[in-house]
Amino acid sequence: MKAVVIVFSPSGHTLTAARMIRKSIEARGGTADIIDLTKDDTLLFASDKRENLAAKVGAFDVLFVGAPVYAGHAEHTVLRTIAMLPSPDEKRSKIAVPFISYGGAHSFVALEEMGRALKRKNYVPVLGIKLASFHTLSRSFRTKISEDRPGDAERRVIEDAASKVVDLCSDRESIRDGSASFAYTKMPMRFILKILSQEKIHAKFKTVSIVYEKCRACKRCIEVCPVNNFVFADGIVSVKNRKNCIL
Ligand SMILES: Cc1cc2nc3c(=O)[nH]c(=O)nc-3n(C[C@H](O)[C@H](O)[C@H](O)COP(=O)(O)O)c2cc1C
Repeated sequence: MKAVVIVFSPSGHTLTAARMIRKSIEARGGTADIIDLTKDDTLLFASDKRENLAAKVGAFDVLFVGAPVYAGHAEHTVLRTIAMLPSPDEKRSKIAVPFISYGGAHSFVALEEMGRALKRKNYVPVLGIKLASFHTLSRSFRTKISEDRPGDAERRVIEDAASKVVDLCSDRESIRDGSASFAYTKMPMRFILKILSQEKIHAKFKTVSIVYEKCRACKRCIEVCPVNNFVFADGIVSVKNRKNCIL
């Protein structure tokens, strides 16, 4: 049984979960390839990114796709990547499992969005996984939320999911769309979260720009930017494309 795990993970939590998935699949006798979109120009912005993705994805029995939650939504780089995926065929099974890692504030539509995006490509999202991860609300808060996560609790959830998926792969007759369960936030909380939407807060952020009077050309921005949006040439750092900024 072969799994492919596609993940985007600017600060590493979703990648930790992806590695847990790989380990769980391997513990059940399967294999799993992780395709990490983070900092991978060939998959993020290259003109032939669709072809590159198809080549990397190859054949599989189950597809896992993982995204962090940003402003309550599945991070758009991942949604865009799902839209570029080759659809299921004789080499690629239709069994898909979206997973999201979230900090703890809003995340009520993220898993649903992932499920819908996968269905648009004819995949069947059999189950979805929502994983707590470390988060601080902002620098003004000293309180840390879900410190040490994803950890043991998340590992147990992933192992449970891996068992179910491995069983499904050997009993394809029982493959069912499980996305109705992705709406894990019910009314009235759903309504309250909508009102308190983080989108308004996020809309205040501007796409990246460089304050040249302060820039010391230390190149740290190049090191940390998850979408490689900085270049260094002739002693000057510049932004490649402001539209590529994920804030
Ligand atoms: C710009 C930004 C926006 C975020 N928005 C939310 C949010 O709306 N709800 C939430 O639960 N977590 C939010 N988080 C926390 C991340 O979803 C969480 O830390 C996630 O695990 C990060 O994944 P990564 O470590 O793989 O990058 C946000 C984080 C960032 C950087």
